[in-house]
Amino acid sequence: MSIQQIIQSYPAKSEYLLEMLIAVDQQKKHHYISAEEINEIASYVKVKESHVCSVMSFYTLLSTQPRGEYVIQVCKDVPCYINDDFNVVLTIEEELGIVLGQTTNCGRFSLEQTACIGCCDEAPAMRINHEIYTNLTKEKVLDIIHTLRGDANGRTT
Ligand code: FES
Repeated sequence: MSIQQIIQSYPAKSEYLLEMLIAVDQQKKHHYISAEEINEIASYVKVKESHVCSVMSFYTLLSTQPRGEYVIQVCKDVPCYINDDFNVVLTIEEELGIVLGQTTNCGRFSLEQTACIGCCDEAPAMRINHEIYTNLTKEKVLDIIHTLRGDANGRTT
């Protein structure tokens, strides 16, 4: 489905703006919404581009910059922080050879932090694209990354 078809599958009303943006993000391999797409969406729902940008800036799920095929977002809020006894971010940084805010050279993984993703009772938690992973352990984090990377033999560490 083209981006235009996705946009036009929603009523041309600003109430659907967030759903529209998320649907476009899900369709894009590198999870970003370009200036042209922002313009197209703004015209369609009859709001200013600055309004679309302000909605996007509120949600860490959305970006105007190309990211990895898998956008890993580790929750940084207090319940996750105090339950993170092995350091989720450091584990991913070491495994992927990048630091927060970077994308791997192969373009497959980006590493970011996010505010609460609503799973505080199952902390620590992270989101990869639109999927939530909870009750993280070091082994679980590595297994998830290896699975996404398609490691033939599972864990390498
Ligand atoms: S604080 Fe991490 S999911 Fe709520």
